[in-house]
Amino acid sequence: MSSQEIPEENLPDEQAAAHGAVEPAHDDPFADPGLPAHKPRIQDIDERAAKRSERTVATMFLLSMLATVGFIASYVIFPVDKIVFIFPFGHVSALNFSLGLTLGLALFLIGAGAVHWARTLMSDVEVADDRHAIEATPEVKAKVLSDFADGARESALGRRKLIRNTMFGALALVPLSGVMLLRDLGPLPEKKLRKTLWAEGKQLVNMNTMEPLRPEDVVVGSLTFAMPEGLEEHDEDFQTQIAKAALMIIRIEPDDIKDKREREWAHEGIVAFSKICTHVGCPISLYEQQTHHVLCPCHQSTFDLSDGARVIFGPAGHALPQLRIGVNSEGNLQALGDFEEPVGPAFWERG
Ligand code: FES
Repeated sequence: MSSQEIPEENLPDEQAAAHGAVEPAHDDPFADPGLPAHKPRIQDIDERAAKRSERTVATMFLLSMLATVGFIASYVIFPVDKIVFIFPFGHVSALNFSLGLTLGLALFLIGAGAVHWARTLMSDVEVADDRHAIEATPEVKAKVLSDFADGARESALGRRKLIRNTMFGALALVPLSGVMLLRDLGPLPEKKLRKTLWAEGKQLVNMNTMEPLRPEDVVVGSLTFAMPEGLEEHDEDFQTQIAKAALMIIRIEPDDIKDKREREWAHEGIVAFSKICTHVGCPISLYEQQTHHVLCPCHQSTFDLSDGARVIFGPAGHALPQLRIGVNSEGNLQALGDFEEPVGPAFWERG
């Protein structure tokens, strides 16, 4: 069918205008928005085709109704235990099969009818929704400014200086409440991370026997763990303190000690190093007698205890701190001060 045969009320505006029915709009600044030329559907131009589509849609809705009736009837017709053979599903429950089939059909036909209706009979005219201007008009701007000025005048903010100033003061101080809450994060650590319980004169206590350590208790080839005297397991901060103060004690032939400071800080070849790995703080426990290497089990950092506990392998960034030790008048091993470097993970530069 050519456009000559199309009723004018069914033609798009441009074509209708060409026939003299409608004046095309000329005030649109975007005369061609880029849409393809509108093509009328057969149902738009042929009433018989439109009727056919209407009947098709109505048929689908009618069939859906029948399927729903079939769904209800299935409950009455089929006993629960009735089994039937249906190709290609095999043996299935007649009731379940019919319920599923009828309900599926009822829903599908409603959807298919709606889609066919929308595609063939509902309006398919492309609609362009023009964006309105974003900037407010001068009148609106003037109205906003005048409303603001009215509000300011009515609130007397300019005149009541006392209220204005105290209000600003109150608003400025309120956030301080939030700052005060930061106090709940606990006290500042200050120097606590750099200090341990070790101090001059503190005796070394064997962590297994809880007895003061004597030089004769430490034999070549053995590894002993020690902590400061006075620290008890039931102390409230026991874990915090032991995590910083735990020691590894070994004895090395003095001539085998390569590091000069280590030799000077030892007592007759007995050396005391922090047990806390300088990588991320695991307790070190594996000792290799022949080489005097200790190994951290967490990430395999290895330290040479005969050479200032320097790192010979692994991710640790610093040597293990050494504690200077001696013997007191009772013949027990004692500290001659605190560690000179922070123990544990090297989160800070050594000071
Ligand atoms: S904690 Fe010791 S190597 Fe990682």
